[in-house]
Amino acid sequence: MALLELDGVTRRYGALVALDQVAMAVEEGEVRAVIGPNGAGKTTLFNVITGTVKPTAGSIRFAGQPIAGLPSHQICRLGLSRTFQITSLFPEMSARENARLSAQARHGRRWQPFGGAHIFEEASARADAALKQLGLSGIADTPAGLLSHGDQRLLEVAMALAQQPRVLLLDEPTQGLSVEETQQAVETLAGFLKTSGMTVLLVEHDMEVVFRLAHRITVLHRGAVIADGAPDAVQADKAVQEAYLGGFE
Ligand SMILES: Nc1ncnc2c1ncn2[C@@H]1O[C@H](COP(=O)(O)OP(=O)(O)O)[C@@H](O)[C@H]1O
Ligand SMILES: [Mg+2]
Repeated sequence: MALLELDGVTRRYGALVALDQVAMAVEEGEVRAVIGPNGAGKTTLFNVITGTVKPTAGSIRFAGQPIAGLPSHQICRLGLSRTFQITSLFPEMSARENARLSAQARHGRRWQPFGGAHIFEEASARADAALKQLGLSGIADTPAGLLSHGDQRLLEVAMALAQQPRVLLLDEPTQGLSVEETQQAVETLAGFLKTSGMTVLLVEHDMEVVFRLAHRITVLHRGAVIADGAPDAVQADKAVQEAYLGGFE
């Protein structure tokens, strides 16, 4: 059984079909890239999986359990954590504090008068472990707003990781980075993915990054899956090349 399974997932906005009967299955330990031209539905796909947006139709199963339409905090607690395409850091707080708050967002309890210190320590430990996995231990005390762009994007990954997810969803982790910053961030991500064996869903427009990181690629075009397979096979696919008008470099 796949860890994450989608079937017939559709999302409409009025007459617009942002997702059209999407089916996909992500195995445990897999790094799956989701690619497609602007407006193809990639972010909407993340939104329906993580509960930010409800699907109009279709089923989503995580570890066998139906999750379509559940509120996002509940989906997060089940073990799906995401980064956002647009940055979500608190710039005045340190990297460690950002990661700790994120850890608490999954595991914290709203009312626990006797568990405070204990929960704080656990969240701190998870935050430090996540920073370490992304090579950020050295800047743990630096305010997030003062970090380089590359480190800010990695910190966002660390924040999602601090929630100890079973599936990590990364929405354009290299967006806004220079070529050099992208290369560095991708090296770090590749090392992390290799050692952690984390199951990842990755939206990324930079094809070099996709081919460097992904085990398998799903291609969306106008909300529908037009190809799904190993990177080489997807790259050679006619429909994919047409969707990208001229294909890959
Ligand atoms: N909240 C919304 N209301 C109306 N249309 C939306 C909304 N969110 C996304 N869309 C539309 O859905 C389509 C897919 O968008 P999106 O998932 O953001 O694409 P991508 O991330 O692949 O660029 C686009 O046509 C977009 O304009
Ligand atoms: Mg998007």
